[in-house]
Parts: sequence; structure tokens; C-alpha cells
Amino acid sequence: MIKVAPSILSADYVNLQKDIEKVEQAGAEFLHIDVMDGTFVPSISYGPGFVKAIRPISKMVLDVHLMVQNPEHILPDFIEAGADIIGVQVEATQHIHRALQIIKNGGVKAEVVINPGTPVEAIKPVLHMVDQVLVMTVNPGFGGQKFLPETVAKIAELNELKQANGYDFDIEIDGGVNAETVVPCYEAGATVAVAGSYVYGAADPAERINAIKAATK
Ligand code: DX5
Ligand code: ZN
Repeated sequence: MIKVAPSILSADYVNLQKDIEKVEQAGAEFLHIDVMDGTFVPSISYGPGFVKAIRPISKMVLDVHLMVQNPEHILPDFIEAGADIIGVQVEATQHIHRALQIIKNGGVKAEVVINPGTPVEAIKPVLHMVDQVLVMTVNPGFGGQKFLPETVAKIAELNELKQANGYDFDIEIDGGVNAETVVPCYEAGATVAVAGSYVYGAADPAERINAIKAATK
């Protein structure tokens, strides 16, 4: 069964605590927090203060996805804020190895993220040092986009490298995930599913979390 990481990008910000409690009670393991800087992606969302505010109200794994150009300078603030996992986009820095080192040295789990247009090859040299790999299943920047099926082959390729080398990182997928699109990803080796609009666009987010889990039994 896949672990579910609801993305609060699609939550109701005015009633955020309620929306976080809903998914935690429904059995979501992770809470996915999308940080957008207006440069790496067009949108601007929220920063370290947001993570810090959420930390005391939830026991879920706080899974912070940085869509931020040159994230190195801001990493200490997210570590300090109480993130459990911090993901950096390989496309956003010339120093991916250093960025992952900063995260790990801060006692936080390190994740590398690849866009749909980036080959698995680009992250091979850092796979030994990560706790999670995020394979973007849409182009980052917005919630509510359509799942890109061509990304499934990359999940499988990554899973093969994981098995062949005895790595134990989680493989996360993000973008356009629902109870149907999650199935081929799970079969290819995905272990964590981010879902934003599918979960929070529903009258009952719990039912959507259950649907993703039931589809990956
Ligand atoms: C996209 C973000 C996603 C987004 C997913 O840039 O990284 O986490 O919230 O939203 P859905 O599930 O609606 O595609
Ligand atoms: Zn995300």
C-alpha cells in the first residue's frame, strides 16, 4: 500500500488547521508542503515561517518540496523550522551534492527532485546519499494539472537502480495523482503519492485518501 502525502497547496488556507487535521485523521502519513519562489516556477506560495507554524499542530511527516532557485541559502531556515524531509530540484542548483549535504548535516532527510524533462541519469551520482527521490509527474508550479504518463518509465528505471544497488530511498510521485494514475506508478515502484487537488478538491478528503490506498493494496 502506498503512503499518501496530501499537498496543502490545494487546502483552504483560512481553515488550514482543520484541513490538516482532516487528512491526518484519515491516515495520511506525510503532509506535502510546496514552496514556490516566483523564479524557479512562476508562482509564489509560502516560506519557512509556514512550516514552523504547522510543526506543532501535526505529527505527520512534514515533506517540504522546494521549487526554489539556488536553494542552498534558505536550507538552514527550513531545517530550523522543523521539516522532516526537504526536497531540492536538481535543475535549480549547480551544487546538488552540496545542497543534499547541508540538509543531511542538519539532521533532516534529504530528497532530490527531477522534473518530467530531466533524465534519471542526472541524479545517479547522488542516489547513494538520499532518503527520498521525487519524480515529478507534471511540470512543477501549479496544482490541478494532468498526469504525464511518460514519467512512469522513469519511476521503473529508478526502482531498478534502487534494487540493483541496495538503496532504501522512498520513491515519491507528485502531480495529477488520483486513484487511477497512482496504479501504474505504484506498480513501477513508487512508495509515496502526493495528491493535492484530488484530495482537497473533494467534499470528503478522507474518502480520496482511502481510494488511493485501496487502489494500491
Ligand atoms: C506542483 C506541486 C504539487 C501540487 C500537486 O508544482 O509540486 O505538489 O500541489 O497538485 P495536484 O495533485 O493537484 O496535481
Ligand atoms: Zn510538490
